[in-house]
Amino acid sequence: MLRPNFEIVQPTTSPDFSLDSPSDEEIVVAYHERTKHQRHRYAASLGYLDWAKQPDPFRRYDGAPLVSLPLPAEGRDLPFWQLYVRDSVVPAPLSLESVSLFLRYALSLTAWKQFQGNTWSLRANPSSGNLHPTEGYVLLPFMDKLHNRSGVYHYSPKVHGLELRGEIDPTFWASLPEGSFLVGLSSIFWREAWKYGERAFRYCQHDVGHALGSLRFAAAALRWKVRLLHHVGGAALARLLGLDRDTDYGRAEREHPELMALVAPEEHSSDRVVSLSEYLTTQLTSSRWYGTANVLSAEHGVEWPVIDQVAAATMKPKILAEEESSSFPSEAELFAASVRSGALTAEKVILGRRSAVSMDASTAISATTFFRMMARLVPTRHGPSMPWDVLPWRPRIHLGLFVNRVKDVAPGLYLLARDPEKVAPLRQSMRPEFLWQRPPSCPQGLQLFLLKKGDCRTLAANISCGQDIAGDGAFSLSMIAEYMDSLAVYGAGFYRNLYWEAGLVGQVLYLEAEEAGGRATGIGCYFDDSVHEVFGISSRDWQSFYHFTVGNPIEDARLTTLPAYG
Ligand SMILES: Cc1cc2nc3c(=O)[nH]c(=O)nc-3n(C[C@H](O)[C@H](O)[C@H](O)COP(=O)(O)O)c2cc1C
Repeated sequence: MLRPNFEIVQPTTSPDFSLDSPSDEEIVVAYHERTKHQRHRYAASLGYLDWAKQPDPFRRYDGAPLVSLPLPAEGRDLPFWQLYVRDSVVPAPLSLESVSLFLRYALSLTAWKQFQGNTWSLRANPSSGNLHPTEGYVLLPFMDKLHNRSGVYHYSPKVHGLELRGEIDPTFWASLPEGSFLVGLSSIFWREAWKYGERAFRYCQHDVGHALGSLRFAAAALRWKVRLLHHVGGAALARLLGLDRDTDYGRAEREHPELMALVAPEEHSSDRVVSLSEYLTTQLTSSRWYGTANVLSAEHGVEWPVIDQVAAATMKPKILAEEESSSFPSEAELFAASVRSGALTAEKVILGRRSAVSMDASTAISATTFFRMMARLVPTRHGPSMPWDVLPWRPRIHLGLFVNRVKDVAPGLYLLARDPEKVAPLRQSMRPEFLWQRPPSCPQGLQLFLLKKGDCRTLAANISCGQDIAGDGAFSLSMIAEYMDSLAVYGAGFYRNLYWEAGLVGQVLYLEAEEAGGRATGIGCYFDDSVHEVFGISSRDWQSFYHFTVGNPIEDARLTTLPAYG
């Protein structure tokens, strides 16, 4: 077996790092450093694609009873913009049909593609390399037509069905708000590591963030809410979802616990969420389990132990205090024009979402569209707004923007602070010569600043590993995370949460681009420290966590598109 070198690379500026017994935070920092792409060296990976070992994108549990979900009829006319408006639709009752629609919008297949004898599927949630490491679970009470017990179900996107993994004591549901249920996400790191090696843990976490966003938008279409149960740590989640059951996996690739969230029709106090989390970590166990996991690659040939190491260092529950939101702008301050209208239905946007493979390098978007997209990324004072209500912490991801083609907005480098209180610290960490000018006609509540005028198309492509889509879009961006402070305040486990927040930002951009008639693409390949240099970031306090591009796509007419189901 090939075993790449996996010593912890000692970070150059971390004075207390001890190789004998590194703390969880030190493991995270070391992982982050060694998985940076540099112009002279990419993060460790196999360096070629070993097609014979390509993992199966579909996990199944052989022997687990499968319930086919009724495929929802297409054509629901709920407008996309209405997903953002609270209390505008009556919440859907919990039923097999509503759960089916929820999963259809969140995690299902949206198309099959064919080219030269190859066939692959696409899903509502995007994934780095289309490898889909994220697996979805729902914990449901007894429901007509489902199964005669309440249980833990694994979602199978290929057949749009639920596999019963374990049974749950029905009295548990009495502790939950009426009409609510739980969703869980796990990652199969091997799916990403097969292609991307050590950096794969980062991409798995981005994908979890996208999936969380996808779940939140799907819930909004049913007028449900989603709340992250951050008190439930990795070990408890593994037990709840049956991921710790050695006998059910055998030689199959293990799934790693990521998160659990409550899906409920109405607002609930955080106390309720906390007590539910506590109940989940101590009380709930399944009495009976079904099924054994399929093997995704007959052999791997290579292992990436730093991924297991960083995963283990980020497993503990994160105890987050509910953060105050009174300094956020109101909806009226964020949006100059009315946003209560739009061209597309929620269904068209959600099921039609795709990544652009290339951008036309010519179409400009309007300033209104640009400002609106930026404003959608900022939580509002009263709420906070969907989908930011899913995260119980204030934004820790901000945007360094490369504006190429936005009408009436000068091309150049910009900064969007998603939390108004972070403008000053960001300014302090960046180049002193930056302008910090508000663009004309920018809504008052948007903390958007021109840093430097100029054509940055080549620069944008260059730092995104030379990918043209970053320079050919209307704008691209780097998501700048408040990194060291997050680890210090919330602990090593929050390393994952920073990626989840970045993925959620990306999911909003994907959907907003679709609604605006364009396309977006997540970009996981970028030269970390080159990005920091562009913005003059010289300490570890702020780090680039994800890139994105938005623009007008060029479709690849050679591909044949087939329906997702049937
Ligand atoms: C975390 C993440 C990183 C990605 N990185 C890149 C990238 O560097 N370059 C690129 O062209 N596409 C990238 N993509 C886009 C994926 O290739 C795309 O999501 C996948 O092929 C599935 O296609 P879909 O988004 O149309 O469903 C990325 C997507 C995600 C979620």
